Amino acid sequence: MRKPSMLMVCCALTLTLVGCTTSDQSKTEEAENKPAETEQQTETPAETPTDKEDEQAEQPTPETEEPTAEEPSEDQPEEEVPVAEAPPVEEPTEAPSEPLEQNGTANLKLDTLVLVNKQIALPAGYKPADLVTANIDFVESATGERKMLRKEAAQAIEKLMTGAKAADIELKGTSAFRSYDYQVQLFNNYVARDGKEQAMKYSAPPGHSEHQTGLAIDVSSASVGYQLTQSLEQTKEGKWLADNAHTYGFIVRYQRAYEAETGYMYEPWHLRYIGVEHATDVHKANVPLEHYLEQLMD
Ligand code: DAL
Ligand code: ZN
Repeated sequence: MRKPSMLMVCCALTLTLVGCTTSDQSKTEEAENKPAETEQQTETPAETPTDKEDEQAEQPTPETEEPTAEEPSEDQPEEEVPVAEAPPVEEPTEAPSEPLEQNGTANLKLDTLVLVNKQIALPAGYKPADLVTANIDFVESATGERKMLRKEAAQAIEKLMTGAKAADIELKGTSAFRSYDYQVQLFNNYVARDGKEQAMKYSAPPGHSEHQTGLAIDVSSASVGYQLTQSLEQTKEGKWLADNAHTYGFIVRYQRAYEAETGYMYEPWHLRYIGVEHATDVHKANVPLEHYLEQLMD
């Protein structure tokens, strides 16, 4: 039907050449940049859930390589996007929204953030699996299990004691882990001595003591004869604890201002381990652990 003239042929050729150039460029850009990068990023998280350890171990690599991968991606990024590279997946930093308790029983999934108080008990007979003896000075009456803490807390109290010594602060542990059975004995003795109402102000009923979590330790100083007395507050050791315990991951759990909330009197000697980050936040916020955890898990 059509016999193309020379002019038409020339035009066609010119158009084809121009067309080739632009379409080639855009093809390369599309293929190299967008699809490659976005696919990798969406695929990798889906691939990784089963290999969380690997993921975490690989995280530093993607982070350091990312800048390089971005710049040359306009030219030849094909091999710059290893499958394992995309997932700077931040699962560990996601706040796990866990309930604090279920039917009055503590949620052990909270690990070092487990909440135990007058309303929330540990599961019957709970004993942490990773108790170790804390390598610190204890008063003589502290023996056996009472010198034990969960491993992480034991390491933290060892650091705290080292820091204290360096600041010329002399402290000793007086009591750390307490089994359910030991708490039964202790609580019954206090009730026999002071009556239940009084005993409840300073001693947790069995199953309700933080000491059973392996994350709590009582400490005292020579200046108060290593007694558990509120006058520790006025000593340089008590002040040092109040100001520094959080930097080692401990909070002074039962503050004077929290008595109504916790139901326990002020205990400047009772340290509870929750990790440096959380302890620092609690210290700054100056709120009972209950409040802090409620907000954190909200
Ligand atoms: N003295 C604290 C409240 C305890 O018995 O765990
Ligand atoms: Zn205590």
